[in-house]
Amino acid sequence: MRKQLLFFGLFLSLLSCQTQDVDMTIDVDLTSKGNKVPSSLYGIFFEEINHAGDGGLYGELLMNRSFEERVLPDKNYTVDNGDLLPPEVINHLEGHPTRGRFKWGNDPYPGWSLLKKGEAEASMELTTNSPNYLTAPTSMLVKVKNPLDGVSLVNSGYWGIHLKKDERYALRMIARTANTYKGNLVVRLIGANGKELAKETITTNNDGKWNEYKLFLTANDTTTVGKFCIDFPREGNFSFDYVSLFPEKTFKGRKNGMRSDVAEMLQGLNPAFIRWPGGCVVEGITLNNRIEWKQTIGDPAARPGEYDTWGYRSTGGFGYKEFLDFCEDTGAKGMFVCNVGIACQARTGEACSDKEAELFIQDALDAIEYAIGDVSTTWGAVRAKAGHPAPYPLSYVEIGNENFGPVYDKRFDMFYSAIKAKYPQLKLISNHGLGDGVKSVVKTDLIDPHWYVAPEYFFKNATIFDNIERGNYQIYVGEYACNQGVGGGNMLAALSEAAFITGMERNSDLVTMASYAPLLENVNDRGWPTNLIWMNNHQVMGRSSYYVQKMFADNMPSYNLNTTAEINLTEKEPFISQEGYVGFGTWSTQTMFRDLKVTDSKGEVIVADMNDASQWIVGKGEWESTDGAYTQLSNENRTTLIWNKAKIGAGSTIEFQAQKLGGSEGFLVYFGLENTDLGKGYMLNVGGWGNSVSAIETIHDNSSTTISEKVADKINENQWYNIKIVVSEFGAEYFVDGDLILTHESEPLNRKFHVAGYDEDTNEIIIKVVNATDKSSFTQININGAEVEKEGAVITLSAKSKEDENSLEDPYKIMPVEIQYNKFASSFVYEFKPNSLTILRLKRK
Ligand code: AHR
Repeated sequence: MRKQLLFFGLFLSLLSCQTQDVDMTIDVDLTSKGNKVPSSLYGIFFEEINHAGDGGLYGELLMNRSFEERVLPDKNYTVDNGDLLPPEVINHLEGHPTRGRFKWGNDPYPGWSLLKKGEAEASMELTTNSPNYLTAPTSMLVKVKNPLDGVSLVNSGYWGIHLKKDERYALRMIARTANTYKGNLVVRLIGANGKELAKETITTNNDGKWNEYKLFLTANDTTTVGKFCIDFPREGNFSFDYVSLFPEKTFKGRKNGMRSDVAEMLQGLNPAFIRWPGGCVVEGITLNNRIEWKQTIGDPAARPGEYDTWGYRSTGGFGYKEFLDFCEDTGAKGMFVCNVGIACQARTGEACSDKEAELFIQDALDAIEYAIGDVSTTWGAVRAKAGHPAPYPLSYVEIGNENFGPVYDKRFDMFYSAIKAKYPQLKLISNHGLGDGVKSVVKTDLIDPHWYVAPEYFFKNATIFDNIERGNYQIYVGEYACNQGVGGGNMLAALSEAAFITGMERNSDLVTMASYAPLLENVNDRGWPTNLIWMNNHQVMGRSSYYVQKMFADNMPSYNLNTTAEINLTEKEPFISQEGYVGFGTWSTQTMFRDLKVTDSKGEVIVADMNDASQWIVGKGEWESTDGAYTQLSNENRTTLIWNKAKIGAGSTIEFQAQKLGGSEGFLVYFGLENTDLGKGYMLNVGGWGNSVSAIETIHDNSSTTISEKVADKINENQWYNIKIVVSEFGAEYFVDGDLILTHESEPLNRKFHVAGYDEDTNEIIIKVVNATDKSSFTQININGAEVEKEGAVITLSAKSKEDENSLEDPYKIMPVEIQYNKFASSFVYEFKPNSLTILRLKRK
């Protein structure tokens, strides 16, 4: 599909008339068609995380409307010191409980407070006595003894209620007032400084029964710090089962609908599919804590909700039907993710028996029947009764979420055969990644690898799909994001994702679906580090990554075009980017170390004192300090002695003496350690691999990866060696007794990526180019096999700095700019901006 030549050094322009040196050449071949680019490619992943739904996409304005927020996932859960503790269940992989603690909090009434003015006397409490709905039994009992200056039950929404002048808000309240009560209730909307924005009186039935009251409140002003109040004019006992407030204007005017601005933002991504309900919430902390779709349909007031493993209760308001409606409203296909009888394997890993799993299979079949079954079926009839006799566009079912291991593989086969037998038209997705795990199942339509990584990973793996064998299954990249070391999600993250997406699009015969994750974040509850779209109660903002997604989705070709590229690599990967600690270690060897000194990048020499124990952090091994030397006597692997006195980075030198006393290898020298342990850093492995070679390795979480050449090297016993290591920004050198033994240089970095295709509807050649360097890229583009018009379009997303980010204060700092361009030709040079994703749309003549 694509050939790429990478040059490090000077690249001569083929165009002598060009004043700037061309640093990349892309040849686009129109003489043959590449693979068809499937319309399913770019979709979205919804999960109730970071208040993505409640307090986000879902239109409800009141927090904890059903008063169920403090209900535990089941009676075996406990709360300890503000944390939620699950019961001790067996993790099916570990064979013993792996329990963990989860966010709970100390507020007994999230969202609600009782306002008593002056001397007023009143109290509130939660109760499950005489419930209105057995499925959502909790209600709020307010006892007003003496209202005097005023008593109000107040809801402050999801970090304030956003109200707009002259707009109407639909109140639905299910309340009970005693038959001895002779008054009514007053409801109000309040803005900043207590300003009254709306007021209505509810004539209550006062019959001791649950009654439903519905009315509209019209705001006379705009506020983002609104509150909703129920005022009690007289004394009495008042019970509230459900109090809900919705903007009348929701996305596409749906009742129980979505917040328009957030929904429009998602619509803007032109999603081919929507995944629901997640994510880890599919699995739950324990099985009783999983999302059960049947509890998310029907009257919202009767839905119990579920404690959400991301730290709050989800109302189930954006339930299964709302998700399917939203698919219709956005023109997307639905993807339902079912639980396979396994709870989250990163949490408790509880698993039911294979016999019990039959119930989970039936539950998944029922969900499918609800979405696409005939109205004569049990669940198709429920859908029809809910006002939707026609089937919904459900096309995919993912079997489990992030499950793995033999129990999962067996379950997958059980679910796959049961669902396929009944619904052969559905595409079924397994949780397997790119490894060999998938071989242990009979058949899957798609696998679902996930990547949450640092930018480097995406840059280096933009070709990861190029050589994967075709024909066994397709790939749905169900969750991916660059979320490490990129602030809240900066341009570097976005560009690395863009680079990775060029690889997905180029291989879209194999990677037929992809969705970034997580999708949404209410900025008041960031439970996950980096999310695509940020919101508060009145703003919604796309990060630069959002615009990358949008640009790819808006500019999909019908099929790919073959290209070849020659790229002049102008940057190298930094070898050492941070300052860090130095230390010694051994591997099945006994070694003595002495006379350590370092010279830092300013030329200052710092000498270690091996007699001063306070300078040394003794980790693994048996370390003894005698006469200015440290000796390691055990036979353990990867022992550690870290010097805490100095941190050094690029431009420094490490010198010491070492003598091997016994054992099978030489010794280890740690440097650039982020902390005084082997969490992250580098090491020189001297006389490693059975005392045969030396090499430089990177350290991650107590394991290491060799990054340099391995050079022949042997350490003899009872001989002092003078060791010197010179560390520079782009490499390192290792000397023994003045002789250079090993030179390591960082690899040249590719930071330029592209993919090209053809749009049959518009007869345009679409070329997408990522330039993730700090300099303009002057790129020679040759269109072979077609003539093109001079006029075309260019869409550019760029930032001054890779660290730049959009924010709620500056939401459009980074956004795509489209221009009409009139210098296209069959052969032309285009200047791609620094830190940019650019899409060229050229019209074929
Ligand atoms: O996207 C956030 C979480 O990441 C998802 O819930 C889970 O599937 C993955 O671990």
